[in-house]
Amino acid sequence: MRLVLLGPPGAGKGTQAQRLTTRHGIVQLSTGDMLRAAVAAATPVGLKAKDIMARGELVPDEVVVAIVADRIDQPDCAKGFVLDGFPRTPGQAEALGAMLTEKGLKLDGVVELVVDHSALVKRIETRVAEMTARGEAVRADDNPEALAKRLDAYKAQTAPLSEHYRKTGLLKEVDGMQTIDQVTESIDRVLGVAA
Ligand code: AP5
Repeated sequence: MRLVLLGPPGAGKGTQAQRLTTRHGIVQLSTGDMLRAAVAAATPVGLKAKDIMARGELVPDEVVVAIVADRIDQPDCAKGFVLDGFPRTPGQAEALGAMLTEKGLKLDGVVELVVDHSALVKRIETRVAEMTARGEAVRADDNPEALAKRLDAYKAQTAPLSEHYRKTGLLKEVDGMQTIDQVTESIDRVLGVAA
C-alpha cells in the first residue's frame, strides 16, 4: 500500500500515519520528522532548513524532493509507505509522480484529513501545553506567529493538491474532527482495508 496523507498543520497526519504503520505494516515517511532530525544533527540540509522551518515557511522543493527520493529507495519502503507531509506543493506532487512512474509504481490513495481552522489552532496549543507540562522541548514552529504562517502556506501551496488528486480519482476525504480512533476507522473504510 502506497499512500499520501494530506491535511493542514494539526490535522492529525502524524498521529494517523503512525497508526497506519502498525495496522498495515507500512513505513511512515514524514518529511517534517526527517527535516527535524537533519536540523538536530546540523547536517547541510538541516542548516539550510532550520530558520525556514522555525518561521513556519516551506523548505524549497528541491531539498525535500531529494530527501524523499533517497528515503523511498531504501529496502523497507518496498513493503509500502505512507507519506506524511509530502507532497506539499504542485512541484512536489509532480516530482513524486515522476519518482513512482520511474519505478513502475503508483499511489493507492490520497487521504485528506478535513479539520476546522479553530480546532487546528486548539490542537497545537494543547500539544504545546502538554509538552511543556512534561518538560519536553516544544517544536520551534509551535508558536502563534509560525503557526499562522504554516496555515497560510497550507492554504496557498498545499490545498490546491486536493483538486489535483480529486481529478486523478485518488482523493479520499475523511472527517478529521472525529476522535482519533474514529478517524483511524474512517481511513480504513475509505481505503477499503481492514486492520
Ligand atoms: P510537519 O512536521 O509536516 O508539520 P505540520 O504539517 O505543520 O503538521 P503537524 O505535525 O503540526 O500536525 P499533524 O497534521 O501531523 O498532526 P499531529 O498528528 O501531530 O512540517 C513542519 C515543517 O517542516 C513545515 O512547516 C515545513 O517548514 C517543513 N516541511 C515538512 N515537510 C515539507 C515539505 N514537504 N515541503 C516543504 N517543507 C516541509 O496532531 C497534532 C496534535 O493534535 C497532537 O497533539 C495530536 O495528539 C492531536 N490530535 C491528532 N488527531 C486528533 C483528533 N482526531 N482529535 C483531537 N486531537 C488530535
